[in-house]
Amino acid sequence: MVDFVALQADLTAQIEAAEDLASLEAVRVAALGKQGAISTLLKTLGGLSPDERREQGPLINGLRDAVQSAIAARKTILDEAVLAARLRAEAVDLTLPAPPRRKGGVHPTMQVMDEMIAIFAEMGFRVAEGPDIEDDFHNFTALNFPPKHPARETHDTFFFAPDETGERKLLRTHTSPVQVRTLMSQAPPIRIISPGRTYRIDSDQTHTPMFHQIEGLVIDREIHMGHLKWTLETFVARFFETEGVTMRFRPHHFPFTEPSAEADVQCDRSGGEMKIGQGSDWLEILGCGMVHPNVLRSCGVDPDLYQGFAFGMGVDRLAMLKYGVPDLRDMFESDVRWLSHYGFSAFAAPGQAHGLS
Ligand code: PHE
Repeated sequence: MVDFVALQADLTAQIEAAEDLASLEAVRVAALGKQGAISTLLKTLGGLSPDERREQGPLINGLRDAVQSAIAARKTILDEAVLAARLRAEAVDLTLPAPPRRKGGVHPTMQVMDEMIAIFAEMGFRVAEGPDIEDDFHNFTALNFPPKHPARETHDTFFFAPDETGERKLLRTHTSPVQVRTLMSQAPPIRIISPGRTYRIDSDQTHTPMFHQIEGLVIDREIHMGHLKWTLETFVARFFETEGVTMRFRPHHFPFTEPSAEADVQCDRSGGEMKIGQGSDWLEILGCGMVHPNVLRSCGVDPDLYQGFAFGMGVDRLAMLKYGVPDLRDMFESDVRWLSHYGFSAFAAPGQAHGLS
């Protein structure tokens, strides 16, 4: 015959003596675990006569309940002790002087992207996005790149290893594939900008393997070069926060625009500091042109009904210019000292009403 009183006293003493959660758990397993003392007793009930069971049942169950609540009570105390110890260990003395802290900030690229989006949004442009990992069709073919175009060479573009079907995906070399995705998925009129990351095998003071572009695309009936010039001149004046700028459009070649141009802004480099909108120097800032009829056709748009213009510019480059960053490579070093110097407050989002920068 089991001495329930003695067993309960023994288990309770062990519970009270448990100094930490691990030893409490060991006591619990020894009593209530599958092979535990109480569990073993519960298993004997089945082999007893009804009379014995009527007598033993409540005793065993009572023992189990008492031990369970003793364990729960002890656990609460031990949990509290753990928490108290942790709070003591992690205490911060608020009366001590704060150590100097490096302040992070909004990266100039992101700041400039937000500024650009704010300006174009006011002109009625919507933001469109596309994937960084592109296929040959969207990055090249649909944009009228001839099969042997040098951009398709591995020394210019990051290609992935071919997949099961033999297709080589690539890191997009420009944001222009978003033009293709937009033209194929929505009907004109279209007015979008597409900010994002782009990749080329290139690294020097003004080139990094990853950089950011903003693409623009406008498609409607009777869109012409005049609209392109006005849009870009208005944008550049607002972006550099000057009254007006003189721009120069130089003939250029892109497979996906015809005619194509590169645009320069008038600037003054004398005296060490670059000033936009005055002086006798020119600075190239973007590529643009009228969307090539072949591009429209590849995307199922009838070039006899619709025309439009596109432009693409380097966001990091414009950030360097506007905020005086000397080396593009530093922008992606993730050096918090650099960021605390060149970064922007996260609380001052650019907008037309309260200013851009
Ligand atoms: N995609 C071109 C580049 O990366 C820029 C561009 C975009 C030019 C749109 C014309 C029209 O160089």
